[in-house]
Formats: sequence, structure tokens, C-alpha cells
Amino acid sequence: MNNKYWATTKGVKMKKIAILTSGGDSSGMNSCIRAATRFALNAGLEVVGIRRGYAGLLDRDFVSLESRSVSGILQKGGTILLTARCEEFKTDKGQEKAVSILNEEKIDGLIVIGGDGSLTGANVLHKMGIKVIGVPATIDNDIFGTEMAIGVDTSLNIIVNAVDCIKDTASSHERAFIIEVMGRNCGYLALASAIACGAEAALIPEVPYNLEKIGDLLYRRYREGKTNSIIIVAEGAASAYEIQRKLKNIAGYETRITVLGHYQRGGYTSVFDRILASRFGRVAVESLLYNRSGEMVGLWEGKVVLTPLDTVLGTKKLLDFRLLKLAEVLV
Ligand code: ADP
Ligand code: F6P
Repeated sequence: MNNKYWATTKGVKMKKIAILTSGGDSSGMNSCIRAATRFALNAGLEVVGIRRGYAGLLDRDFVSLESRSVSGILQKGGTILLTARCEEFKTDKGQEKAVSILNEEKIDGLIVIGGDGSLTGANVLHKMGIKVIGVPATIDNDIFGTEMAIGVDTSLNIIVNAVDCIKDTASSHERAFIIEVMGRNCGYLALASAIACGAEAALIPEVPYNLEKIGDLLYRRYREGKTNSIIIVAEGAASAYEIQRKLKNIAGYETRITVLGHYQRGGYTSVFDRILASRFGRVAVESLLYNRSGEMVGLWEGKVVLTPLDTVLGTKKLLDFRLLKLAEVLV
């Protein structure tokens, strides 16, 4: 690409952009940092990484990003820029300090990669006059404006691999397992993984569940010859320990438990996430070059689209009803 092309045809006086990752990490953040950095460098921009999210912004923890600084990270989980949660940035004083620092450092545009909390912070900066584009990255898949956030697919693959392993021992011992997955208040990870691993039941916060019915179902399957069972519980619906206790009390049913915890947040980035994150990174930089701000990149029917952060943050993402219907038949 001809660097001058960007500088002249877009009519935007932009020299330097910054990238930060914030909130809970998700696999694919690195792929996005890499794509955004390389695309921006190609467009003739200077790129700085802000380490440890908004905490690092307030501490001026900046690193220069060159093409070589982002090599070898495409497939790596976590984030080379580190991430953090920062209470100070939630205060008026913290936000004013952040704006002053960005102006003093002559940062013309900022890319914020993170979940809904981080995107809320990005919107605050936008309203205070900073040019910001958000990139959705969270395993929870709870962000409106994108069908998939960066990291969801990798996390699903890890959950399904873990359940496949557990099924080996479950079938040998003729046992039932309760597997607790993350997702905060969103049941997407539980629902999608239950479909993908052929679980007997999925307990998610969006749909009321009846443990007596689940107990009956497990006994019925047992009598029909299915001697092992998997129940996936979303952390937002209940704890696996609570479900174990209740199933024992209600149906006298014995179960084993696995809480996957942070294991499901790391790991080699899936192909889907590498490509999604690369596309998001590119469009985030392009959007800044087109003088856009206060918007988030997202995936909608195969295309990368922009949605105003006000809309993203003001709209509850509903579970895909087609997945729910599929689960009703298969799970
Ligand atoms: P995630 O981005 O994964 O949802 P958090 O909700 O913990 O993670 O948010 C990450 C960071 O974003 C917070 O530590 C804080 O610095 C910033 N943030 C969250 N909510 C707000 C808010 N309402 N206003 C300004 N900044 C916020
Ligand atoms: O938002 C991502 C997430 O992994 C949630 O699924 C989970 O509830 C939470 O973060 C865990 O947070 P922490 O990293 O603070 O333990």
C-alpha cells in the first residue's frame, strides 16, 4: 500500500494512534493488536501500545509498536499489552487525566480492545473529544452489535475439548458430570458448548430450568442405556456445587463436578478468531483514518460493520433464538 495514499485521499491529519487492551483478556486480542499495528504502519502512522489498559494510560505506560514488535503473536492467547481493571479511570478526575495524557502524547486516535466495561470507558473518552474506535473482545459474547466477539470461538473450542476428555472417564465409570463454564450473565458459552458436545442439559441464566425434570431425564436416559451424562451450567445460572447438591436432594442423583474457570480464557487462538481479530483490527484503523469515532467494529452477517457505542452499550444482546431452538431438540 502507498502510505501517501492514506494521508492524502482521506483528508485526515492523523499521525499517531494508540492501542490498549482492557478488562478480562480473551484469546485473539494479540491477533488484533498485530493487524491494527501492521495496517496502521502501512498507512504511514506511528503506533504506540498502552500497557495494562486504562491503568497504564494513567501511568503513561506506553511502548512503541513496530512491525517486529508484533511478530510471532498471531496465535498466542492473552495480550502482549497486558490488561487490567482500573477504578481510578471510572472517576471524573481519572478520565480528565486520561484525556490530558492522550493530548500531551499527541495521540490522534485510540483503539480500545475489550469487553463492555472497557467499551464504556472508550465511549467516555469519545464524548470528551478523543477519537476512539472500540473492538469487542470477551469470551462472554454478551456485546450487542456483533454476532461474535474476539475470543468466543477459541473459548468454545477449549470447553468442547475439555468436555470430550471428561466424557471418556464419564463413560468408563458410568457417571454424570456437571461442568461449569464462564460467561458472566450470558448463557452463550454454555448453550453453544452444550450443542457442540452433545450434552444432556444446559442451564443458562436466560431460561428458567427445572431440576426435577432434569433428574427424571437423566434416569430415563440411564434406563434406556445411556450410562454417562453431561450437564453444562453457565456461571450466571448457578454454581455447579449448588446444582450437584440440589440434584442429590431432589433425585438422589450422584454427580461429579468440573469448574473450567480461567482455563477456558487462554489457549492458542482458533482460526476463526485469528481471522475475525485481524479483520476487526484493520477496520478499526481504517475507521480512525476515515475520521470516525465513538463506534465499535462488529461482525454482522459475514461483514464487518460499525455500530455507535451508545447503541452497543444501551442495548441488551439477546441469545440467538435459533441456537435455543436447536438446543431444545438436541440437548
Ligand atoms: P470488560 O471490559 O471485560 O467488561 P470490566 O467491566 O472490568 O471488563 O471493565 C474494564 C475497565 O473498563 C474497568 O476497570 C474500568 O477501568 C473501565 N470501565 C468499566 N466501566 C466503566 C465506566 N462505567 N466508566 C468508565 N470506565 C469504565
Ligand atoms: O468477562 C470475562 C470473564 O471471564 C467472565 O466470564 C468471568 O465471570 C469473569 O471474566 C472472571 O473475571 P476475573 O478475571 O476477574 O476472574
